[in-house]
Amino acid sequence: MAILVTGGAGYIGSHTCVELLQAGEDIVLLDNFSNAKPEVIDRIRELGGRDFPLYAVDILHREGLEKVFAREEIEAVIHFAGLKAVGESVAIPLDYYQNNVAGTLNLCQVMARHGCKKMVFSSSATVYGTSTDVPFREDSPLSTTNPYGSTKRMVEDILRDLCASDGEWSVCLLRYFNPIGAHKSGLLGEDPNGIPNNLLPYIARVAAGKLKQLSVYGDDYDTPDGTGVRDYLHVVDLAIGHLKALDFTRSHKGAEAINLGTGRGYSVLEVVKAFEKASGVKVPYQMAPRRPGDIATCYADPTKAKKLLNWQAARELEEMCADTWNFTSRQG
Ligand code: NAD
Ligand code: UD1
Repeated sequence: MAILVTGGAGYIGSHTCVELLQAGEDIVLLDNFSNAKPEVIDRIRELGGRDFPLYAVDILHREGLEKVFAREEIEAVIHFAGLKAVGESVAIPLDYYQNNVAGTLNLCQVMARHGCKKMVFSSSATVYGTSTDVPFREDSPLSTTNPYGSTKRMVEDILRDLCASDGEWSVCLLRYFNPIGAHKSGLLGEDPNGIPNNLLPYIARVAAGKLKQLSVYGDDYDTPDGTGVRDYLHVVDLAIGHLKALDFTRSHKGAEAINLGTGRGYSVLEVVKAFEKASGVKVPYQMAPRRPGDIATCYADPTKAKKLLNWQAARELEEMCADTWNFTSRQG
């Protein structure tokens, strides 16, 4: 039987597919390519060392999903497909609720019809909202500040209700902190369309000479150097976390929320410094006002992932920066 990976051509999905293939899992990759490039598929095949079925299907398209489940024997789903830009979600909330919430409902209904009741879901540390009670534990209070975050929280609730209603379901709600970095080969990485919103892609484009300088959003936070602190984790560590979560769904029932982070925070200026060291390139920056909605400090308590999944992040910030640079400097 195979693992269906929705959004498998995206940033985190592509790295996870490679790790799954290398671990001997059969996969079926589904993506509507709204935020991915088709050439990623060949790279996954090359790095994973094996072929797999590909479906250019939208999770909103019920018949398309039915076809996949009728043709393939799906044991479990790793569900990455979704829209993820916070600012965009404020501008077009209905698209976010439709894609992320209605799309997931569709998927779960089709899964249930085919007796497939294991899922690993991409949630986010954004569900901890503006809380200042760091490190965030899975039982910390939840709140959201934008439609994107609300979709993640709603889907978590839906999946918990589903597990409560039917004891055969097993779901891991993985709350990612800040995934960065790229595959060692330089063949997979994060290459957002337009001007990047997130720190690492922005820094990488400044280093590549495509953007003039980084704006550091706020230098007056209550942090050691005044700039925002986040828990950055290597995308390959994150991908490996999904394999562990998949195994967990094979041996447990019910819904479990689990943080995937390193447990250590770095400030914006520390990241700039680490990137300059790893790349050998200067990253010019200027101080700018705080970005609305940002919090000072966000990092995980990763104890539960270690205990339940036997997972912990292994890669350090310098390696995350070096791999980001290796990927970015190969882009045209
Ligand atoms: P991504 O945009 O690179 O990947 C998402 C993939 O899903 C894309 O390939 C896109 O084409 C596909 N997709 C979107 N809507 C679809 C639909 N309706 N049907 C089929 N395919 C669809 O994003 P990513 O960074 O790899 O994130 C993956 C998941 O993890 C998302 O759900 C995101 O919200 C979540 N997440 C990401 C981060 C992060 O910082 N990258 C942090 C926390 C959570
Ligand atoms: C973003 C998302 C959040 C998501 C998280 C995980 C936003 C508003 N929030 O948050 O929902 O869960 O990623 O991936 O997009 N920074 C700069 N200059 C920049 C870009 C960022 O100084 O050009 C700073 C930010 O103020 C922050 C840090 O860098 O302190 C990290 O920012 P970013 O990469 O956008 O991640 P988050 O803010 O954690």
